Amino acid sequence: MNYLIDTANLEDIRHCNEFYPISGVTTNPTLIAKEKTDFIALIKEIRNIIGPEKTLHIQTVQEKAEKMVEEAVFIKNTVGGAFCIKIPICEEGLKATMMLKEKGIKVTMTAIFTPAQALMAAKAGASYVAPYVNRLDNIIEDGVSVVGEIVKQFAIYGLDCQVLAASFKSCEQIHKCALSGCHNATIDAHLFKGLITHPMNDAAIAGFAKDWKAVYGDKSILDF
Ligand code: G3P
Repeated sequence: MNYLIDTANLEDIRHCNEFYPISGVTTNPTLIAKEKTDFIALIKEIRNIIGPEKTLHIQTVQEKAEKMVEEAVFIKNTVGGAFCIKIPICEEGLKATMMLKEKGIKVTMTAIFTPAQALMAAKAGASYVAPYVNRLDNIIEDGVSVVGEIVKQFAIYGLDCQVLAASFKSCEQIHKCALSGCHNATIDAHLFKGLITHPMNDAAIAGFAKDWKAVYGDKSILDF
């Protein structure tokens, strides 16, 4: 499973890009608006941080298919590199997805809550579908099961579309999605740390340092 960071915060993107094996950045209008800064400068700086090969997912704010396509072309030309336009699932969004497929621009169909929506998005030509795991859990549905069913559908029909699960609030949700065969998970910066933290780690690392020091003092391997 690939990890992406779900934010437009430059500090968090810089940190996760440096310390974690992320394969891209996902944003949406809410995350962009949170930064309260110039949109173009922000998306260009995100590209600058992650480089041209990691995928940058940026969402359209248009409601009509033709305008979504126009915006997708504009954003792609602005940020360059590996790019996906995010489009929420709706009739206009599906139409735009089919038009963008013709133009060779990749689509991440977002705000997915059911396997039926995901299947329709994949048939329209989306490269990724983004089911919202925690928002489903919050209404006493099972976000992880929805992810698993979408993965299964894509495998059964051999569809060239990946699941990019989003809206996570816990490491357990992420872990269970990984077990379900989910291809990608986009997560908040703080959850990256959670995924590598275990109460026994500090003691294990301290033990190595203590045993080494007892014999070699302050010498490091490079001092030999
Ligand atoms: O990318 C979609 C994701 O940001 C939604 O997450 O936390 O608003 O449910 P959340």
